[in-house]
Amino acid sequence: MASTTASSPGRAPRPPLNTVLPPLLLGTATFNTQYVANPHAMPYRDIVARAIALGVTGFDTSPYYGPSELLLGEALHALMNPTPTPSNPNPTPLQRSDFFLVTKAGRIAATEFDYSPSWIRYSVLRSLQRLHVPYLDLVYTHDCEFVTPGEVLAAVKELRRLRDEEGVVRYVGISGFPVNVLCDLAEMIYKETGEPLDAVLSYGHLTVQNRRLGLPFVEGGGKGQADVEGSPLVRLKKAGVDVVLNASMLGMGLLTSKGIPVTDDTGSPLAKWHPSPPELRLACMKLAELAAAAGERLESVSLRWSLAEWARVAAEAGVGVDFTSPGSSEGRKIGVAVCGVSSTPELEETVAEWRGAVSSLGQEEDGSNDKYGPARQKKVLSLVREQLWPALGSWLDYAWDSPGEGFVNTRKDSNRGVVPDDGVIAAYEKAKRSRQSR
Ligand SMILES: NC(=O)c1ccc[n+]([C@@H]2O[C@H](COP(=O)([O-])OP(=O)(O)OC[C@H]3O[C@@H](n4cnc5c(N)ncnc54)[C@H](OP(=O)(O)O)[C@@H]3O)[C@@H](O)[C@H]2O)c1
Repeated sequence: MASTTASSPGRAPRPPLNTVLPPLLLGTATFNTQYVANPHAMPYRDIVARAIALGVTGFDTSPYYGPSELLLGEALHALMNPTPTPSNPNPTPLQRSDFFLVTKAGRIAATEFDYSPSWIRYSVLRSLQRLHVPYLDLVYTHDCEFVTPGEVLAAVKELRRLRDEEGVVRYVGISGFPVNVLCDLAEMIYKETGEPLDAVLSYGHLTVQNRRLGLPFVEGGGKGQADVEGSPLVRLKKAGVDVVLNASMLGMGLLTSKGIPVTDDTGSPLAKWHPSPPELRLACMKLAELAAAAGERLESVSLRWSLAEWARVAAEAGVGVDFTSPGSSEGRKIGVAVCGVSSTPELEETVAEWRGAVSSLGQEEDGSNDKYGPARQKKVLSLVREQLWPALGSWLDYAWDSPGEGFVNTRKDSNRGVVPDDGVIAAYEKAKRSRQSR
């Protein structure tokens, strides 16, 4: 087991993840050219500072997200080392324990994966350097459906070794797209190692378009006993998974007023790589029209539906986290969401919808006109159920194949486990020796 001494930088305490993971995390896949034209020019420092100010203390990144780790690391480092100004000569520095940092390992490029223990170790040590931290709170194997179960097992074991022997990782999980593969792998890892995963991150599977992660528990999802037994959340819970996280509530930009253009000559970075077929993109544009006709924006409706349903469903399934609303002494469990934004107004809107969703949990409509209150939530849930789902027709609960047909891992066998001699490991070993000699 990992040590529970907090004094050495890499040995932070390890209570169950569901008691320490924040209920809303800011994802930073958006700090990359896949989402924005120039991530270096986006207000990433302001977004991260605003997140902390709003109480969003969890951050999700990956070495696969271009400069994301570097930009997030720079933003966090600036908050941890604030510059005094005439109006604030003694700014309070952010402490490492004030935020929960999540990254991933194993995905190098769109078609390049290396889950070998030596690459996983190198990747984790590089993340520490890029993020300017002595330890990572949670590390996932990134997009594990692209490699074999044996490779995932080896990578998870290495992450656990980095946790137990080197103290640079606190919790270990897997991330990916097809929920049945996530369930299979969680079951296999539990069976093979006797230890369940701390976390599973699923994305794009609890949205107004694709409800598969939460079926049959989502509102209107039907509930036969057979459906319940084989459902993803019941399987993950039985495999001992402590927390399941729901990411990409807007389907990676699919469920917004702008949507994803069907041609890639529009300047939209998403149009070039988004895995949705053109017919699905068009079907989602129809949803934007329906939302507008109801006086709403598709992004607000989609965020609210996912946040509200996931907060409830994950808690019912036993894969949520502790949460106490500000000003209340009574705690409860809620599902954890991972949002993605490219501006501070988007972050503020997401947080407002999240606060509305969690404060409306179990609340009856109160007759108030609060833009984010229970009455609005009721309106959103019925708009989704009565108009958006029928309009989607056969696209409701559709999930594209991942990996797509003909996928080949372009990392050559002979290169797997080969790590660059770029000073990352040497710097880590030197710092470790210096800590040990103290
Ligand atoms: N395999 C994995 O491990 C995996 C996969 C997916 C996601 N994730 C994590 O989960 C995070 C969330 O996923 P995501 O980034 O794909 O989130 P998402 O919510 O599906 O999409 C984010 C995009 O939606 C738009 N948006 C967000 N809030 C908005 C608002 N209030 N109004 C209008 N548009 C809004 C923005 O696009 P515009 O720039 O066009 O405004 C933003 O870039 C990721 O950043 C990543 O950290 C992990």
